[in-house]
Order: sequence, then C-alpha cells, then structure tokens
Amino acid sequence: MDPNIKKKVLRQITYGMYVMTAKEGDKVGAGTVNWLSQASFTPPLIMAAVKADSSVNEVLRTSGTFVVNVLSASQKQIAEDFFRPTKVEGAKLSGHAFKPGTSGSPVLDEAYCAFECKVTDMIAKGDHTVYVAEVTEVHQKRDDKPLEMWDTGWFYGG
Ligand SMILES: Cc1cc2nc3c(=O)[nH]c(=O)nc-3n(C[C@H](O)[C@H](O)[C@H](O)COP(=O)(O)O)c2cc1C
Repeated sequence: MDPNIKKKVLRQITYGMYVMTAKEGDKVGAGTVNWLSQASFTPPLIMAAVKADSSVNEVLRTSGTFVVNVLSASQKQIAEDFFRPTKVEGAKLSGHAFKPGTSGSPVLDEAYCAFECKVTDMIAKGDHTVYVAEVTEVHQKRDDKPLEMWDTGWFYGG
C-alpha cells in the first residue's frame, strides 16, 4: 500500500465536528472529535474513536457516560478551543459555559443540540479506543446547520 495515497484516500471520509465531554467525580474531560457515527436505530447506538492518551478517554473509561455536543457551521472557534487540554474554571469549560446533563456530563450552552450516551462496549486497540454507546437523552435548542470537517480545512485521518 502506498502511504501517501492511503493518507489521501482515507481523508475522503466525510465527518462532522463535535465536542465530547465526560465527568467522573470532580474530573472533567473534553475534546473535539470527528471520528463519530450513528451505529444502530434500535437501540439508538453511536460509535466514537477516542485518542487513547487523551483526558476525555481517561475520564470516559471510568464514567461510562458522555455527552456529544454538536457544533454549528459558525462555531469553528469552539472546536479549536477544545483541541487543547481542558480547563475548568467555575461554570466554564475551556471558556465555554455549560450545565450538567442528566448523566452529569457537561452540556455546552452554545451547542445547538447535544446527546447523552451510556457506554455499552469498548475496543481498546491501536492509538484510539472505539466506544459503542446507547443514546439515553437528547437536547435541542434550535435548528441549525452542523459544522462539517471538510469545510474547516482541517484533517484528522489518513
Ligand atoms: C481536527 C482534529 C480532529 C480531532 N478528532 C479527534 C477524534 O476524532 N478523536 C479524538 O480522540 N481526538 C481527536 N482530536 C484530538 C482532540 O481534540 C484532543 O486530543 C483533545 O481535545 C485535547 O485533549 P488532550 O490534551 O487530553 O488530548 C482531534 C484533533 C483535531 C485537531
């Protein structure tokens, strides 16, 4: 396999951009992710690949629940803010206000929709851990257009 073509071809997979958050006790993890998809209608399952050495993965391993905050097309800056290690300052997470969801994980005030998930399975292989999780609660503040990876000019894949 040609490594340059492999990189180019795998980068043709299309993605959204989300801020994943998890909370366990007083530990909070959050990160921008794009490796995420629905995986079943009944029950409603999603799958996500989380960097093995990230703070969100550290919290997720024990919390067993997380929130996927969906960013809108105009919220590229929020995605950037969650590429960096998470800072919790009072009621703000890396500068963004949040409220605890039903499971306790942070739901960002600015996210136009979000869903809460309970982990059902995990596969710890390679440099990312794949989680399969059931959607247990949904939040919607308004209709909007989601942020799509291709339009940002960023790549995470290959
Ligand atoms: C464009 C882009 C896409 C990313 N997608 C993912 C992803 O799908 N899964 C993931 O675990 N990390 C992804 N990351 C990395 C996380 O955003 C980053 O590890 C995390 O937010 C920062 O937390 P940490 O310092 O604990 O790693 C991505 C980073 C960038 C720049």
